[in-house]
Amino acid sequence: MEKNYKRHLITAALPYANGSVHIGHLAGVYVPADIYVRFLRLKGEDVLFICGSDEHGVPITFKAKDLGCSPQEIVDKYHAIIKDSFNRFGISFSIYSRTSSKIHAETASEFFKKLYDEGKFIERESEQFYDPSAQVFLADRYIMGTCPKCGNDKAYGDQCEKCGSTLSPEELIDPHSRLSGEKPVKKMTRHWYLPLDKYEGWLKEWIIDGHKEWKTNVYGQCKSWIDGGLKPRAVTRDLDWGVPVPLEDAKGKVLYVWFDAPIGYISNTRELLPDDWEKWWKSPDTRMIHFIGKDNIVFHCIVFPSMLKAYGDGYILPENVPANEFLNLEGDKISTSRNWAIWLEEYLDQFPGQQDVMRYVLCANAPETKDNDFTWKDFQARNNSELVAIYGNFVNRALVLTNKYFEGVVPGYAEEDLTPEDRKLMETVPEIVANLNNCLEHFKFRDAIKEAMNLARLGNKYLTETEPWKVFKTDPKRVAVILNLCLQICANLSIAFEPFCPFSSKKLQAMLSLAQKKDEVCPQSVPEGLVKWENLGRWDLMKEGDRIGTPELLFSKIEDETIQAQTDRLARIKKENEEKAAAEAASHPEPLAPECTIDDFAKMDIRTATVLQAEAVPKTDKLLKLTIDTGVDQRVIVSGIAEYYTPEDMLGKQICILANLKPRKIRGIESNGMILMAKDVTGKMRFITPQEVMPNGAKIG
Ligand code: 2FM
Ligand code: ZN
Repeated sequence: MEKNYKRHLITAALPYANGSVHIGHLAGVYVPADIYVRFLRLKGEDVLFICGSDEHGVPITFKAKDLGCSPQEIVDKYHAIIKDSFNRFGISFSIYSRTSSKIHAETASEFFKKLYDEGKFIERESEQFYDPSAQVFLADRYIMGTCPKCGNDKAYGDQCEKCGSTLSPEELIDPHSRLSGEKPVKKMTRHWYLPLDKYEGWLKEWIIDGHKEWKTNVYGQCKSWIDGGLKPRAVTRDLDWGVPVPLEDAKGKVLYVWFDAPIGYISNTRELLPDDWEKWWKSPDTRMIHFIGKDNIVFHCIVFPSMLKAYGDGYILPENVPANEFLNLEGDKISTSRNWAIWLEEYLDQFPGQQDVMRYVLCANAPETKDNDFTWKDFQARNNSELVAIYGNFVNRALVLTNKYFEGVVPGYAEEDLTPEDRKLMETVPEIVANLNNCLEHFKFRDAIKEAMNLARLGNKYLTETEPWKVFKTDPKRVAVILNLCLQICANLSIAFEPFCPFSSKKLQAMLSLAQKKDEVCPQSVPEGLVKWENLGRWDLMKEGDRIGTPELLFSKIEDETIQAQTDRLARIKKENEEKAAAEAASHPEPLAPECTIDDFAKMDIRTATVLQAEAVPKTDKLLKLTIDTGVDQRVIVSGIAEYYTPEDMLGKQICILANLKPRKIRGIESNGMILMAKDVTGKMRFITPQEVMPNGAKIG
């Protein structure tokens, strides 16, 4: 933070209100944003933390159609769920509002209108798909057809969810409207575009030259977008759900969801501070930071800044956009449609009072520089061997021993009682604090939480090495020093962990009566007592004679059965998904290939053969090297079936091969022919075998 800013405007991506929030959202956006905001607040900075539901866009209209209700009903339902679960999880937004609000419609319309009036848009006519019977233009998602790549007959006009290909509606085989089922036709329509190409030079200067300090993943994505050349982007859509385009002749048109959503940050600030919002958006003294996931980078680094630049009027730009990569779950991509997720509200119900465990794990394992994996085993291990065994254990020992030896009253000591061991401890703490600070300032939350844990580790080690329980009888004065220092570390821990694990910090501060205690060094800032970031590293937070409360465990062990129940749930979901995919595959075989003649077929020499030897090809996951007896010769075939069969599975099996396929080298091994496999649309493969054993070399035709 080179410049001295007066205030910090922190935004977190507005989640779509068509589903609940899961751990991927939390790890990518909301946990890091909340950590940062709490850190700033503890430093006494002026902070606003803005978020809300993103309630427009085509998927919401679909969900509504599928469920036979209105889009408003959908967003009402999910907005309430999301808002409540964030609140229970301790995400400390200044406001969590929504883009279907009146104030948002006004703000977004006004924004569009000013750009329109000032000629900042270009107007273009283009041909788009239209449903003649429903009489509406169709967004790509509204068009369905057969995927030309994999044969899935439920592919969308923008993407096939089965094979993951990006598509355009023109590529679909047998396209039809999802509204009426009819074949769409092309029709002219008019839209407004933000000419991003005009902002290219400015973006280059601002990001490529001016923000080299941004995270590599963010900077790299921006650079490749800008280097690839920017094109005008449509900011309106033909749709009946969204903020209506505020122009006379724009009936049936709304603002594109990605135009209105970021303006939601502004609307929500206005809603919170109707008379005072402008200083948060239009003063160079405000520092704006957007917390987002990697799929939102282009919108927050290129599109929204260009909108703000086009609008002018003093709007500030983000100083940083610390976007994260994605979190996977047990080795698989998190997916709402496959229910492959841990849903926040379910977690909160199933793990009551354990918000900090999930917050801790998601931060310690955050996908900051690359995609990362969440596993329940790791969740359990981090709780049991870090939160419980290090942080919780240290605090508990310090408090229990103070009760035991000093009846719960903080013992005092004189400077000259300090031993070299104590002084070493007191010298190490500032190093940890400096690292912690530095990591938080640079959005390195994984490293930061490690430093906070290092403080607990240090305390634990000190207590174990000084062994007050052995010393008390002979030297109670020495124990007074040890426990005083340990209690100071507890107080420090409650501050250091507050951004990450606020619930347990509050609990610990209550045990130490820390929040209520007046700060004698800085008495003017009493509200949170001594709980202030600047107090980290102090050795006088607990005063001689202070009485500590009854020690309560900060964390408790998570048993194997609890984790088993969660992994069982995921195994059930996986099985259901596989069964669904298999049923789908059976009911939707691949479309037939173009006609061939008997002569085409006759060219293929297909025969039975038996596998004599089988081994994995080293350094590959997919390949097996099979030595087979074709009846005519013995030969080697390299086959990509290792995902489905082990070498042992194949040994001695009778198979069918294409025997006259031209030999080719695969990973340096000559492969002579091909094994015939049956393959379903999910890619699963099984080898073909005659109904009863035949002599090798029997011809198939
Ligand atoms: O990707 C998403 O979930 C979007 N709803 C994020 C919007 S962020 C902002 F621009 F509002
Ligand atoms: Zn496909």
